[in-house]
Amino acid sequence: MAEPINRLLVIGLGLIGGSLALAARNRGLCREVWGASRSQLTLDKALDKGVVDRCFSSLEEAARRLDAGDLALICVPTLTVPAVLEILQPLLSAEVTVSDAASAKGSVVEAVQACYGAAPPQFVPGHPIAGSERSGIDAADAGLYDNHWVILTPLPETGTDHLARVRGLWQGAGAEVAEMPVAEHDEVLAATSHLPHLLAFLLVDTLAGMREKEEIFRYAAGGFRDFTRIAASDPVMWRDIILANKNAILDVLEQFSADLDTLKQSITAENSDNLMDVFTRAREARNRFGAQLEQRISTSQQQCPMSEQQLGESETICYETSPGGVLQGEARVPGDKSISHRSIMLGSIAEGVTRVTGFLEGEDSLATLRAFRAMGVTIEGPNNGEVVIHGVGLHGLQPPPGPLYLGNSGTSMRLLAGLLAGQSFDVELRGDESLSRRPMNRVVMPLREMGAIVEAREDGLPPLRIQGGQPLKGIDYTLPMASAQVKSCVLLAGLYAAGETVTTEPAPTRDHTERMLQGFGYTVDRQGAMASLQDGGVLKGAEIDIPADISSAAFFMVGASISPGSDIILKHVGVNPTRAGVINILQMMGADIEVLSQAESGGEPVADIRVRYAPLKGIAIPESQVPLAIDEFPALFVAAACAEGNTVLTGAEELRVKESDRIQAMADGLQALGVDASPRADGIEITGGGLSGGEVDSLGDHRIAMAFAVAGLRAGGSIRIKNCNNVATSFPGFIELANSLGMKVSSMPQRG
Ligand code: S3P
Repeated sequence: MAEPINRLLVIGLGLIGGSLALAARNRGLCREVWGASRSQLTLDKALDKGVVDRCFSSLEEAARRLDAGDLALICVPTLTVPAVLEILQPLLSAEVTVSDAASAKGSVVEAVQACYGAAPPQFVPGHPIAGSERSGIDAADAGLYDNHWVILTPLPETGTDHLARVRGLWQGAGAEVAEMPVAEHDEVLAATSHLPHLLAFLLVDTLAGMREKEEIFRYAAGGFRDFTRIAASDPVMWRDIILANKNAILDVLEQFSADLDTLKQSITAENSDNLMDVFTRAREARNRFGAQLEQRISTSQQQCPMSEQQLGESETICYETSPGGVLQGEARVPGDKSISHRSIMLGSIAEGVTRVTGFLEGEDSLATLRAFRAMGVTIEGPNNGEVVIHGVGLHGLQPPPGPLYLGNSGTSMRLLAGLLAGQSFDVELRGDESLSRRPMNRVVMPLREMGAIVEAREDGLPPLRIQGGQPLKGIDYTLPMASAQVKSCVLLAGLYAAGETVTTEPAPTRDHTERMLQGFGYTVDRQGAMASLQDGGVLKGAEIDIPADISSAAFFMVGASISPGSDIILKHVGVNPTRAGVINILQMMGADIEVLSQAESGGEPVADIRVRYAPLKGIAIPESQVPLAIDEFPALFVAAACAEGNTVLTGAEELRVKESDRIQAMADGLQALGVDASPRADGIEITGGGLSGGEVDSLGDHRIAMAFAVAGLRAGGSIRIKNCNNVATSFPGFIELANSLGMKVSSMPQRG
């Protein structure tokens, strides 16, 4: 933090200046807060409300008293800034920092240069991006800048001390401070703030001018209210901003007018494809911005407490279980995550339309869906698990407008890396904090061997940058680890690689990619551990019915197995043998599981699974089962904790690089619940015998969170499970479904 400010003179005590003055005073950001305004009423109110320590109706008088260590902040309407500068320039010493809060920076900088000859080191242009439809000193709010951006646009001449002082002031007021060049600021703001305000004012004006205006507004609903909210802003302020940032606004307005003309033509020609393209691209972009905003809010939570209202949907949640519970009834858990990802990927690069049912509307598969929308694919839905994908063919993807954000989803990142390595455009793949810690060299290495240019961070971690336009060649790749993601990545790159691409895996892993490629009419040759394909084929749009996810069903299989009196049927579960390890392992432990009504659906075996309580015993889990149950170990460890005797897992080092280090996370959690659980490099040893209540941390890993929720069925007391938001990545509606079957778990805001 910079040297504390001695006196802060806020020039102009409207919403912006008044709020900053109040924040500075309440939070002790300077020794004294002074206010200058031409309105005596404003000054009286400012003193009255405790916004300032001292008031000046003469700016000259206030300016004359300022000295080294003081800061004058100009918060007057943009077009009035030059007049204020003219007054300050002869009166302020070079040690007084001067800054402003105008929404357009180019015009302010020009005014400074005109007034001073050249911009002086003491001048720091700034712009707080915060506001309200209310204006004036009455609206002053000390919390206005909490978690809002303030953009500073320092000039080459700007002195570092002055810059640090202004930065410190805004940070002290709760803002996040960014720096950017003046021109960039004006372009960004023209597009994201000035144009929307202009359009909102114009739309309301146009509609209000229509003859039956009363009728129109009477029927206007939430969408109209949301879209036009900003048309209630201060007209003088916005007139000034628009004129001050004239050039940048005209540029973006021109682009907008051209797009509006195209849209008009599409409507005239009833070109529904064009309309769908625009709307789906826009929706995807809007969702991305929304995600960015939420991400920003959740990171800022760590630095600064927020009101409940501000926390909104991004609030951290925890689960709490009550002891006991018996599982009974029938349920269909959400769609298979792995198959959902692949349906979007292959549907997008297929020719024609792909209709999907049973799609998992969880955050992970939605991340994949958004990524393809961003690459120009029109995707309808999801509506109740139904998705319609208008495939663009193997070579029809378009460059996305920015990096693809894949949230928590390792499958999205690794499979997309392969699919995108052979495209003609560059792309960057990013993820959340957990995904940004997961190893990517396992896909980077084979892709490079195929001729792709893929860069990860030095330590092989995301983001991944893929350079398009590289000719790929097929390789014969022996996987160093049993990983369906790596196998799928290489095979998907193989669609774009000259000649034959062959993968050989050390142990069988889920084969959904191979099956689905075949379902789309693309030949995949499979012999034992080998899968191979040639380039030059095409994928044809298909119908895909996605079964319920065995990985989600596994929680209730374990739940029913450990709670006496339980008897449940899980419907239409995918029981592909490469995924069915959890059934095999539970049966070896003595579980009572029946696989009923076996059938085939969309190239995948499905069945209803009946599970009744049975006493379990500990076993040594055969290593051959590990890849077949790789995602189910958190739940299986809970089964082991409730079994009689020891359960030993080996050959499962892969568990350490999942959404969390699942061996350590489960060992820590089980120990916190009084279970004897000893982690090993490649597995764990768990001594069964029951669990107590207590507090555990899921570390943001969905499967750890759900596993401990299931543990609640047999725990002696209540279990509090921290950081459960990510359950929505794979199992939206988990709490509701769990409780409807008889579990006793609730979700609540996490405090402390
Ligand atoms: C997946 C493969 C597995 C699994 C993951 C989904 C897939 O990962 O853990 O949840 O859809 O291909 P690995 O390939 O890293 O084992």
